[in-house]
Amino acid sequence: MAVFIGGAWPYANGPLHLGHVASLLPGDILARYYRLKGEEVLFVSGSDCHGTPIAIKAKQEGVAPDEVAGRYHNEFADCLDWLGFSYDFYSRTNHPFHHQEVQKIFQTLLEKGYLYKRTVQQTYCDSCDQFLPDRYVEGICPHCGHQSRGDQCESCSAILDPVEIIEKRCKLCGSTPVIKETDHYYFALSKFQQPLNEYLNHAKEKGRWRENAIHLTKRYLQEGLQDRAATRDLEYGVPVPVQGFERKKIYVWIEAVSGYLTASKQWAAEKGESWEMFWNDRAKSYYVHGKDNIPFHTIIWPAILMGIGGLKLPDYIVSSEFLTVESKKLSTSRNWAVWVPDLMKSYHPDSIRYFLTINAPERKDADFSWREFIYSHNSELLGAFGNFVNRTLKFIQKSFGGEISKVEADHHMIQRVKDLYIILGNLIEKGEMKTALEEVFSFVRQANKYFDEQKPWVQVHEDISGCKKTLYTCMQIIANLSILLNPFLPFSCEEIQKMLNIKDSSWRLITLGSVNINRVNPLFNRIDLERIELERERLGE
Ligand code: MF3
Ligand code: ZN
Repeated sequence: MAVFIGGAWPYANGPLHLGHVASLLPGDILARYYRLKGEEVLFVSGSDCHGTPIAIKAKQEGVAPDEVAGRYHNEFADCLDWLGFSYDFYSRTNHPFHHQEVQKIFQTLLEKGYLYKRTVQQTYCDSCDQFLPDRYVEGICPHCGHQSRGDQCESCSAILDPVEIIEKRCKLCGSTPVIKETDHYYFALSKFQQPLNEYLNHAKEKGRWRENAIHLTKRYLQEGLQDRAATRDLEYGVPVPVQGFERKKIYVWIEAVSGYLTASKQWAAEKGESWEMFWNDRAKSYYVHGKDNIPFHTIIWPAILMGIGGLKLPDYIVSSEFLTVESKKLSTSRNWAVWVPDLMKSYHPDSIRYFLTINAPERKDADFSWREFIYSHNSELLGAFGNFVNRTLKFIQKSFGGEISKVEADHHMIQRVKDLYIILGNLIEKGEMKTALEEVFSFVRQANKYFDEQKPWVQVHEDISGCKKTLYTCMQIIANLSILLNPFLPFSCEEIQKMLNIKDSSWRLITLGSVNINRVNPLFNRIDLERIELERERLGE
């Protein structure tokens, strides 16, 4: 089976932080799991290089927007690589290939009548002498009455047209914008009301979307879909491929979500592969992002796909809630965030993957605190998992010169391992990564208990065959943990496979023959508790 996995494209206007990682990580867990299962996987993402924040930042720095975007794009690629993200293709929206393909999509939608021209009124700031980007119009949300920005209300999540905002102000200079007429292309979202209703009902029945996605999408559909502007008056972005409109740009969200398809095509072109198998009805598709991205993936993107026709709609929506930091809302401008480039200097990527999965914001917001993070590393990752591996292998080294031959393993423990492949597989496929990881770690604790109860340090003197059975069983467990945990903790699992000389593995019980262990490296080092305060002090500086 072909499995397509699309990870959200981070905006290339600032470094990656743990909020990004928490929402994107399920994608990598899925990709690694399905590859182990032997499925054909295409896991893509890229950097979202257009949009107003990047243009503004470039202006402030006096450089071209592409330069700002390129800088962060390269940094993202390094960070994601360090974290073990196994994208088959990591693209960027300012790539000429993306531009070309997006323009083709635009033309297709135009030919099919899903895009049409309309003269509209638009917010224009006289003192700044420009049409205002949506998010630079501030005022009151017409739906909930709270303070809001022109693109999307932070309080009620409604997608807004900046013209609807009440008591408009220009964010750049504070003056009241005027309304001017101009021509734009509109996307006929309202034509998709009925098919999208059916699509949502289908997803609901199959239980494939997270609750937050079902809830929010239902609300939008109940309110009734409105046609939306598909072009903008911006300098930076994908030019509208229509004569007389070249100076206008395609709306950044329409263009960014199209990246899933353009990146698939670019991957295929560069690798000599076929993208079609991941985009037909026999494929399975997953979309992984944060909750603020939901309507773009459950309404806009499916509508575009329906408009083009013949392309696979999203099956699974893995939309995370938010990650708070030390119990407070994450804020990049106030530096209330934990940045990946900083983490790279002092921590193990598996520690981050472990923490953000076992505390994943799946159904509700989750918190990152330095205390919890360091304790979870020391007591669970190192204390339970690392220690089980280390004590077993060290024992084999010390008492048996590193050699242990195949004997009959403990049936009960091996049955548990077999069951775990099935239980975990089901959970991961549904996007329930937190429960899946909890299952393995509760087994790790059981394995430690088995070791304690068998007492190989006593057996080695009194019952040598019993001792060999205990150690062989523990080794079997370790070998299988290196597969079961691979989607979550790929670096330590690779390390185990090197120590046990496991060459290839797939998502099923592995049975080791005789093993010869030459070298035992601890998987993790203890993190000094003093770091808690040191790290906390840097927040908000
Ligand atoms: N750049 C957007 C954000 O950070 C996410 C875009 S996902 C995409 O919220 F698929 F639309 F690209
Ligand atoms: Zn202004």
